[in-house]
Order: sequence, then C-alpha cells, then structure tokens
Amino acid sequence: MKKTKILLIGACGQIGSELTGALRTKYGRDQVVAADIRERTKVSGEMHPYVKLDVLNKSALLMLCGEEGFTQIYLLAAMLSANGEKEPAVAWQLNMDGLLNVLDVAVKCGMQKVFWPSSIAVFGPNAPKLLSPQANASTPSTVYGISKAAGEYWCQYYFDKFGLDVRSLRYPGLISYKSPPGGGTTDYAVDIFIKHLAKGITFVF
Ligand SMILES: NC(=O)c1ccc[n+]([C@@H]2O[C@H](COP(=O)([O-])OP(=O)(O)OC[C@H]3O[C@@H](n4cnc5c(N)ncnc54)[C@H](O)[C@@H]3O)[C@@H](O)[C@H]2O)c1
Repeated sequence: MKKTKILLIGACGQIGSELTGALRTKYGRDQVVAADIRERTKVSGEMHPYVKLDVLNKSALLMLCGEEGFTQIYLLAAMLSANGEKEPAVAWQLNMDGLLNVLDVAVKCGMQKVFWPSSIAVFGPNAPKLLSPQANASTPSTVYGISKAAGEYWCQYYFDKFGLDVRSLRYPGLISYKSPPGGGTTDYAVDIFIKHLAKGITFVF
C-alpha cells in the first residue's frame, strides 16, 4: 500500500487550521499538504507545505493530485449556514461542485480515502430533539443543510458506484479558540472566546 499523503482543502479555516497540525503530527509534515483559496503570501509559515487552490477549479485539482500522488483528501472548503443564507446560489455552487470535483478526482486518481464533514444542519426544525435517529427523514431548512444532505447521498453514490471510501460525520457546532468564526450558527459562541482572549482574559475549565 502507498504511503499516506494527504491534501487538506480549506486548511485555513476553523477546523483546518487545527486539523492540519494534528495530521502532520501523525503522518509527518511533508505528507500533509495544506490547500486553500487564500494567497500563499497571506498564509502563516506553519501552514507550509501550502498550495493555493480553488476547489472549484477541477483541472487544477486533478493536475495537483496527479503530480503529488495524494492518497487521501480532506475537503473542508464550504460556505457555512449563516453566510449561505446571504448568498444561497454561491453556497450551493461551492458546497456541491466542490464536493463533486473532489469525489471525481479521487476516483480518477485512485485515492484510498476521502473525508468530508457533514452537519447536524441536515436535520430541520421538525427532527426529534432527543436521540434523533441517523436515518431520520431529513428536512433541512437552510441551503447549507440541503447541500449537506445532498452531499451525503453523493458520497454514498460514489461508494456504491465506484467503491470510493468516503468518511463523514455530522458535526454539531464546533467551538475553536484559535480561529475566528466562519459564518455558521455557532459564531456567537466562538466570538465569546475570541473577544475574551483579545482582552487577555483567560478561561479555566
Ligand atoms: N465549524 C463548524 O461548527 C462545523 C459544523 C459542522 C460541519 N462543519 C463543516 O466542516 C467543514 C469546515 O468548516 P470550518 O468551520 O472549518 O469552515 P471555515 O469557513 O472556517 O473554513 C473554510 C475554509 O475553506 C476555504 N475556502 C472557501 N472557498 C474555497 C475554495 N473555493 N477553494 C478552496 N478553499 C476554499 C476558506 O478560505 C476557509 O479557509 C465544512 O464543510 C463545514 O460545513 C463545520
């Protein structure tokens, strides 16, 4: 089996900025390439090896994967729920076309695994509040939630059709003290930590 080499797309965001370091600790710095739409010069040194990549540019993604021989892709680039409601068409394009590009390229390049987070946004307001079952009829009420529900079906489709190993979890709202909020429903909670840290106030748990 080929040595694990990872492309992490959306590496500069809330989850990516921590996951990149964690994966590098596990697999080695050079085995994990961080990618994001941000300019290389605007990214901190600890993010390197880094490549500027727009996940919507499928030919660039395909070329990069062919050249670098990645065995896994983590796709974190997405427009989150609150921002998605401001620009529904843009959110749909990024969340859907970005995922489809990655799934397609992963099949073409014979990737071992794709990781793509889903969200509790797949559950709409009518979902049971306690012990909501995994296969509950999903009635998302935001463009973001609809894109995650559709994305889950696409991942299942690529597994059934092409045998692509896609792993996904439905994350709840995640709170990071390191990066600013990314435009989701948990922004308020994240903002509390960021503002307090900016004022030099520390938290004791
Ligand atoms: N943060 C949460 O609470 C939460 C909860 C559930 C699921 N998720 C999912 O986890 C993933 C990551 O979330 P996050 O909070 O880190 O998001 P974030 O908004 O903080 O980060 C997304 C990153 O993607 C990059 N990006 C945007 N467009 C791009 C493009 N066209 N090409 C390449 N990169 C691009 C952005 O520059 C940003 O760095 C998303 O799929 C999100 O839906 C997050």
